[in-house]
This record gives sequence, C-alpha cells and structure tokens, in this order.
Amino acid sequence: MSDPTTPGTPVEGPRPPGGRRRTNPPDPALVDERIARLATDALVTRRGYLRILGVLSGGLALGNVAVAAGAFRRRTEGATEDLVITEDASAVPVGGEVRFNYPTDNDPAVLIRLDEDLFVAYSTVCTHLACEVLWVPDDRELFCPCHDGHFDPDDGAPTGGPPQRPLPEIVLERQGDRIVAVGEGRILEHED
Ligand code: FES
Repeated sequence: MSDPTTPGTPVEGPRPPGGRRRTNPPDPALVDERIARLATDALVTRRGYLRILGVLSGGLALGNVAVAAGAFRRRTEGATEDLVITEDASAVPVGGEVRFNYPTDNDPAVLIRLDEDLFVAYSTVCTHLACEVLWVPDDRELFCPCHDGHFDPDDGAPTGGPPQRPLPEIVLERQGDRIVAVGEGRILEHED
C-alpha cells in the first residue's frame, strides 16, 4: 500500500472523468535530476554539432592549402608535358585535322590547319555539357552536335547555340617539321 503523503506517490481513489488519476506534486529532487539530465543531453548535442563544424572547416582549410599548393591541375600555359602531335606538318592539308589527346589520354583535342602557315589546336570537349566537338572544314567551324553549338576556329570562341565559353586552346610550337603541344592555353573570354 502506498503512502499518499509521500511526494510523487500516486493517490489511490476513483478515476476522474478524463480517465487519468491525479498525482501529487512531483518530487523536487526528481525534477532537479531531470533538468540536469536534459542540460547534459543538450551539452552533448552541442558538442557533436561543434565537432561536425570543426571537421567541415578543417576540410575547407585543407582544400585551400591544396589549391594554393597547386595540387589541382590548372589550365596554364606550359603547365603540362610536351606532346608531338605530328612529325610532319606538311602532311596535314589546309583544312585538315589531326586528332590527339592532351594533356592526358582522357583529354580529346584537335589540331587544325587553317591556312598554309596557320595551325591551331583546341580541346574538343564542348564547354556547354562536354559532348565532343567536331571540326567541319566546309563551314570553317567547330561544331557540337549535341545542342547545335558552334565555335570559331580562329580563337575557339562560341558563335552559336548554348555554349558560353570558348574551347580551351592548346599552345603549339613548330619544331622543324614537327608540331608539338607545349601547354594549355589561356581560356579566352568571349566578348559579346
Ligand atoms: S554539349 Fe555542346 S552544345 Fe551542348
């Protein structure tokens, strides 16, 4: 049998219309203990949040250091190894092309002979959504069939369709009969 005088002890008796029995006022010691536990839980949650923040900001700081150290490849002139595109430039007819990969085997590019003495080279990854761009000598343009994108072969600038940025240029060097890719060119901003 419980003692109704003890704080927190349920009072025996008929149920009220709502179906719940009344209880005596809670034991202040129990209330204090619960408040202390809630405060501890909140503290733990706050610590976890701060830990996540610490991990995130640490990752960002590491990323900045990596960028500053040049860990990510940047498209800068002379930043990559040279590649002989052709040993015999005269074998490429005016209007002709030579496909190659540069600066890595996964970067398709094209060398185009625009004139007797004028060779240009560009990445053939479309600057819209990365489809492969084609050289169309009859129209004297680089064309992307995915969304009807057009580029000027003189400077790689977009001339029609959705692309907004020029094709990255590859810097060429003539070494005797050879044509050599010696770096990735500046990304020329297209001026409307
Ligand atoms: S991917 Fe080239 S125009 Fe869209």
